[in-house]
Amino acid sequence: PRPRPLTGKRVLITAGPTHEAIDPVRYIANRSSGKQGFAIAAAAQAAGADVTLVSGPVELRDPAGVTVIRVESARDMLHRVEAALPADVAIFAAAVADWRVANEGEQKLKKTSAGMPPLQLVENPDILATISKLKDKRPPLVIGFAAETEHLIDNAKAKIARKGCDWIVANDVSPALGVMGGDRNTVHLLTRDGDINIDNIKVDSWPVMTKEQVAAELVAKIAK
Ligand code: C5P
Repeated sequence: PRPRPLTGKRVLITAGPTHEAIDPVRYIANRSSGKQGFAIAAAAQAAGADVTLVSGPVELRDPAGVTVIRVESARDMLHRVEAALPADVAIFAAAVADWRVANEGEQKLKKTSAGMPPLQLVENPDILATISKLKDKRPPLVIGFAAETEHLIDNAKAKIARKGCDWIVANDVSPALGVMGGDRNTVHLLTRDGDINIDNIKVDSWPVMTKEQVAAELVAKIAK
């Protein structure tokens, strides 16, 4: 039988994009497929963990044995994540929309002679930062993702410091690499040992792998 090193551990994972409503029929979203987060959920489940996956709208089937909670917006996602605590490990793989529309229309916006409707944006809650900064219910290991198209490592280090998480999985999402929506990923695992200080961060660069392999490696590190 396979070793199940995460037996008895609760793992909470976010995945996918969020949809931020403009009006009843339109929304703002992004190109996240949810594949990496779903692969991590499946790998953690296979390692024996009790897994809750809070996912934005994606076209993926529930991984077997995982509790899947489907949400639409960043605010829904935050509420469902908070309700799923406590957890031993939290992994925030979702591509949460940074902004939502402030003046969400109750009815479908119509074309008028007055020109285009202005879309006012307001900032969404940062789920990773919120959970990282919890006093009582902070999971002992909080892992974020950093999808960047430039200055990957420096941005990821700054992100650990700013958000207060323990580890970051940094990945290059330049369009030429086909990571968004694709099956492969090239990642760097940044781990913080001790205080929140850029000097305490170690960088481990992994070769190009499938998203399932990245998930298995990450779960192996967590188990260690
Ligand atoms: O700031 P940025 O979006 O690049 O940070 C990425 C990390 O933060 C990811 O782990 C993502 O899931 C998380 N995040 C979040 N809530 C947000 C924005 C990002 O949990 N509103």
